[in-house]
Amino acid sequence: MVNYTPNIGVCYYPEHWPEDQWQSDAERMVQAGISQVRLAEFSWSKIEARRGEFSWGWLDRAVEILAQAGLSITMCTPTATPPKWLVDEMPDMLAYDADGRPRGFGSRRHYSFAHKGYRGESRRITRLIAERYGQHPAVTAWQTDNEYGCHDTAISWCPAARDGFRLWLADTYQTIDRLNDAWGTAFWSMRYASFDEIELPHLTVTEANPSHTLDFYRFSTEMVRQFNAEQVDILRQLSPGRPIAHNYMGMFDQFDHRPVAAALDIASWDSYPIGMLQNMASVGAPDTDMLTDCLRVGDPDFQAFHHDLYRGMGRLWVMEQQPGPVNWARTNAVPADGAVRMWSFEAAAHGAELISYFRWRQVPFAQEQMHAGLCLPDGRDAPAMKEAKQFIDEAGQLSWDAPSSAKIALIYEYEASWMAALDGQSADFSHLRLVLDVYRAIRQNGGSVDIVGSAADLSGYSLIIVPAVMTVSDKLADALHQSTAKIFMGPRTGAKTANFQIPANLPPGNLQSLAGFVIEQIDALPANQPVSCKWRNHAGRLHIWHERGQLMTGASAEGETESGLPLLIHNDRTSYLTGWVETGLMTLICAEQMRDAGLDVHEMPEYLRVRQSGDMLIFTNYGPRPVTIPDTFSGRLLLGERILPPAGVSILSSDN
Ligand code: GAL
Repeated sequence: MVNYTPNIGVCYYPEHWPEDQWQSDAERMVQAGISQVRLAEFSWSKIEARRGEFSWGWLDRAVEILAQAGLSITMCTPTATPPKWLVDEMPDMLAYDADGRPRGFGSRRHYSFAHKGYRGESRRITRLIAERYGQHPAVTAWQTDNEYGCHDTAISWCPAARDGFRLWLADTYQTIDRLNDAWGTAFWSMRYASFDEIELPHLTVTEANPSHTLDFYRFSTEMVRQFNAEQVDILRQLSPGRPIAHNYMGMFDQFDHRPVAAALDIASWDSYPIGMLQNMASVGAPDTDMLTDCLRVGDPDFQAFHHDLYRGMGRLWVMEQQPGPVNWARTNAVPADGAVRMWSFEAAAHGAELISYFRWRQVPFAQEQMHAGLCLPDGRDAPAMKEAKQFIDEAGQLSWDAPSSAKIALIYEYEASWMAALDGQSADFSHLRLVLDVYRAIRQNGGSVDIVGSAADLSGYSLIIVPAVMTVSDKLADALHQSTAKIFMGPRTGAKTANFQIPANLPPGNLQSLAGFVIEQIDALPANQPVSCKWRNHAGRLHIWHERGQLMTGASAEGETESGLPLLIHNDRTSYLTGWVETGLMTLICAEQMRDAGLDVHEMPEYLRVRQSGDMLIFTNYGPRPVTIPDTFSGRLLLGERILPPAGVSILSSDN
């Protein structure tokens, strides 16, 4: 096992501050224990004020000051903010919204990934910045662009996308008849005679053909992948040996991240726990107790979920960590005392090599002036500074192991998220939310999870969870059929073919013989009108989604809805959950799955969570009251006490 110690970093914008402040900023960063500084992701118009007129001097000096202070730099390509002169030169590079309107200049991310001219500009500026800094000894890492897809920008409904989509379709299907079959265009007289007839799937009278939309989403992912890969190729050539990252987001599924991540070394993400708790209503409101209890710390499982998700795609960094109130959520509360330290420990517990706070100093102008930094706008320390220092001091005294595999694999597929929404069968069904609910249930039983894609090697896992993987690839079906692990699947697993059609043998399609269940009808329920159900001696509720069907020979049902329909189907080592059960029952059912898989189950107090990292068990308290670590956990305390205060962290050594 490789030993490492987590580092802390910061996002710094020298272009926002007078140059005579840079030296003391660098010195204070070092005093705070910061080792890595991210630079320049929005700096294009400062570097190139007009085409071909370059001002590198300011960035050269900033890099030199940071380097002399001993800091390492993550240099960024500045392509998230193309300058005004460039937009004026090629106005058709703008992304279009779903209503067909170009998105204006004056904020960021206003480009289309499919625009060939902008793609050339992206390569040009990437090459220039890589030529200038690629060999600088202090530049130890790169970030491509910034948050692909942020502000709803992964998909552009622009003419460039339409033209590219037609070519992509022709390449994918080869003949128009194949496309007609795959999309089922016999329906509503939608048959096409050539690829050139195909428009983007929007502005239709009622819903567009879902297979058409699904393919457009796949094409849009391919555009992001190509855009990123083009930058990566240049960076690898001009800055060899430096790892390359992109900073993804939370609760974001507009493009498939895995093909993009395949070109990168580091899968980093931007963690804003309090802002995200407020905005989670977009995927179904968190229960009201949690909104109140966790107002100042965020959802207890949300950060962990994303750490586990992105660690499955590369080395894990948190490129931006919330340090105080943000400016973009519905409402923006101040974090609880200790929250910044707790989030940092939690990231490290999940294998983050770097926790980088966004931003160094709160900026007094423009869009994000209400967003906190490690320093106040007048330069004094903001409250988070103390906690960042405390974290790095404490973390430095512990012995960390590089993350190893958990015993539980949870399969998450981006396409499944799109498909669940495209089906239109329930406006209340959020695929991400269901996956998060299952993940939460495992954590409430003290489990540690790896979140992986369908193509992952599943051989080392004791429990494989397949919640609503709508299309099951042949590779995954084979792996599950051959696996000796306990398998827990459904609802909606295997519900569609890859072309978005109902499987010929009915869902769950190629997993039917494994599930022992054939689905015949869907009961899609309003989220606020659950039905009662029971499982063993436990009463609970089922909401949003329930599948009705026939058991196959050899399968047995356990639990039932209020009208006597089966809840959980067992077939050999597989269990299939026919509906979306609410949290309490989901936790009990998951506990049983874990026991069946031979795993330990712990009854965690509400809001207490644990993550195993090497020999350390790292506990975090997301609740408003003190909680006690259950007696089922033994071990020597390495940090904190067995009773954790709100936003507290304790660490037990699992080797006693
Ligand atoms: C992120 C973004 C940053 C900054 C931050 C504010 O989404 O990458 O540039 O806007 O949010 O919380």
